Amino acid sequence: MTRIILVTGGCGFIGANFVRLVHAERPDWRIVNVDKLTYAGNPHNLDGIAEGQNYRFVREDICNAQAMRRLFLEEKVDTVAHFAAESHVDRSISGPTAFIETNIVGTFSLLEAARALWLGDTWQGNQPCFLHVSTDEVYGSLGDSGYFTETTAYSPRSPYSASKASSDHLARAYFHTYGLPVRITNCSNNYGPYQFPEKLIPLTFNNARHGKPLPVYGDGKNIRDWLHVEDHCRAILLVIERGKDGDSYNIGGHNEKQNIEVVTTICDILDQKRGLLPGGRPRRKLISFVKDRLGHDRRYAIDAAKIQAELGWRPKMDFASGIAATIDWYLANSAWVNAVVDGSYRQYYAEMYGQALA
Ligand code: NAD
Ligand code: TYD
Repeated sequence: MTRIILVTGGCGFIGANFVRLVHAERPDWRIVNVDKLTYAGNPHNLDGIAEGQNYRFVREDICNAQAMRRLFLEEKVDTVAHFAAESHVDRSISGPTAFIETNIVGTFSLLEAARALWLGDTWQGNQPCFLHVSTDEVYGSLGDSGYFTETTAYSPRSPYSASKASSDHLARAYFHTYGLPVRITNCSNNYGPYQFPEKLIPLTFNNARHGKPLPVYGDGKNIRDWLHVEDHCRAILLVIERGKDGDSYNIGGHNEKQNIEVVTTICDILDQKRGLLPGGRPRRKLISFVKDRLGHDRRYAIDAAKIQAELGWRPKMDFASGIAATIDWYLANSAWVNAVVDGSYRQYYAEMYGQALA
């Protein structure tokens, strides 16, 4: 039977890359993309994918429990890939309310819709699967050594990571309590096409190409473990098709980098591809150390041994090739960047960095 997959947040960064992957490689699946289109959701991320037998877009808030229930029933959804979230740590610090609503209440409403349909007496569809997409930030912050494994205790430290940890707990509780077929993935920092330019890599690209200051928080030595979005999406597809109900899978590619290294790498690539700034200045000169983020986690690093051993997943891209390909994509799609850097983005940017970079 055709798989009917509900993708939430399919117009966001990772969701759009996932919709593109499934649309291209599982042409017999029907994708129902439900997205509220917040500032981070952009229908143009899915340009070229037409509505029809295997794709439908529904503009709706996942917190609308009735609408979710209706949609599950109407479409006979048998698979969920749940991406929709408020995803930016800085925004969660300045305004946590939306994070509690979408990340916790929204996940709850989807779990309830799935429970009502799949665990009712009348379900006759495929073996269902609810894949909850989460983050390594639920595990907290590491010191100089060690890695997050699936058994690392949760210790979230920002409103964002606390809301994601809450939703992970809810999803797991639905497996243990009701037997809902839930799987969870906890992935490290993603980068690649269609990432909203509030996050470090596209923000640095966008400023560096315009010769604007590059804000680096604190001493720039915080470490993130970067994974190309396509490798993440392939891992999610694998967990949907071959993972085990009730299990969590950590996803990461051992690409630990200090923030300052990421920023200088982007500067050097742009210098090479675009030439130096006027006056022969290298873009590294644009780096500006600014006040640190509140509660800034020092280091994230993923041990992905489980998904490698059990499902045979391997990342295809290391950071050097992935970041070069990403800069190429942003250069070739500067119209996309220009379009998303609109009035509301400029207002956010001014509030976030205005004084620090004045
Ligand atoms: P994003 O902010 O780019 O996109 C989020 C999408 O969700 C947008 O399309 C937005 O319109 C939609 N959305 C937000 N609130 C909604 C609501 N109430 N109802 C319906 N749709 C809503 O996020 P992203 O970076 O693509 O992250 C996707 C998921 O992956 C999130 O759950 C995030 O926690 C997780 N994750 C992200 C990263 C990363 O590095 N970006 C790493 C690991 C896990
Ligand atoms: P970000 O892309 O916001 O992802 P996350 O907070 O989920 O890890 O930030 C990545 C790292 O880069 C993080 O340590 C904060 C830092 N950072 C800066 O130094 N300057 C910036 O302008 C931004 C957005 C992030």
